[in-house]
Amino acid sequence: MKKILTGLQPTGVITLGNYIGAIKQMVKYQDQYDSYLFVADLHAITIPQDKEQLSKNTRDLLALYLACGVDPKKNKIYIQSENEYHTNISWLLECNTYYGELSRMTQFKDKSRKNANFTTGLLTYPVLMAADILAYDVDYVPVGIDQKQHVELARDIAERFNKKYGETFKLPEALISSEGTKIMDLVTPDKKMSKSSESQKGVIRLLDDEKTIRKKIMGATTDSETVIKYDPENKPGISNLINIYISFTGKTIKEVEEEFAQKTYGEFKTKVADVVIEEISQIQKRYNEIINNNELDKILDEGREFTRKIAKKKYEDMKYKMGFRR
Ligand code: AMP
Ligand code: TRP
Repeated sequence: MKKILTGLQPTGVITLGNYIGAIKQMVKYQDQYDSYLFVADLHAITIPQDKEQLSKNTRDLLALYLACGVDPKKNKIYIQSENEYHTNISWLLECNTYYGELSRMTQFKDKSRKNANFTTGLLTYPVLMAADILAYDVDYVPVGIDQKQHVELARDIAERFNKKYGETFKLPEALISSEGTKIMDLVTPDKKMSKSSESQKGVIRLLDDEKTIRKKIMGATTDSETVIKYDPENKPGISNLINIYISFTGKTIKEVEEEFAQKTYGEFKTKVADVVIEEISQIQKRYNEIINNNELDKILDEGREFTRKIAKKKYEDMKYKMGFRR
């Protein structure tokens, strides 16, 4: 059976973008593949985090995974920092990764530009991500388009390691969903909807209440025309709403354009808000049941034990091949 793996950072309540780009995909594939889903808390600290918030966000994210339909019977669910082999593997990989490769990563360039006091962790972030993936011989990594470059780097690092030390890693592939790959901020639709946006107006979070969600969607930036047509270049706002709508309804762009051919932007937005709220309110109901339940801890203990065994084996294999022997 093919393996699939992804992780999300606990850096705030996840957005509609995370849900569409990453979690919905995991739910879609869990019947088909051996699935691994974790909380990338070690990646979160590449930028400063409040420690209380970090642990709260971690638990919230795990509860949201389950509330979104991730089935603990079909997925290994775990916390990255509870498995020390990820960082051990990462170090061995770092010593097989070039500084130039890391400094050329788009995300690194963006984030380091925003804060001159960035840490080394921000630079080596993609290597830890490669370790997360390569430890388990994963076939597919469902991510949003912004993470594609990191998955490709993981593949390059794996290939290099295999050549140098002998066949060790499977080469992973990014799995980018065709619908709504990149959900944009509702207010500034040329920017991706992000957990860390300064303004909240254009960002829908999975724990926002109904009224807030509706208000944000109704207030989404559009354009001065009146046609509902998919054209990301000239109509980024409307195209983004179409992307959201199709990922919640499973309709095609053409079907949506036909459905709203004679409708106003207001009518379209109302419909988008309806479908989003319907699905998110179900998620919130389940989230409230799960968050205070110790079932979650049992799932995490199992996930930790299972994944530690696999990652340990990979780490020892790497060490041996690299010459760490008595
Ligand atoms: P992050 O918020 O950076 O931890 O992202 C977690 C996952 O969600 C990654 O796979 C991202 O590519 C995906 N993701 C984040 N924001 C968006 C977005 N606006 N649209 C689609 N996917 C996203
Ligand atoms: N860097 C990813 C993000 O911010 C999260 C992540 C960490 C990840 N390790 C991973 C995603 C391994 C996929 C596979 O979205």
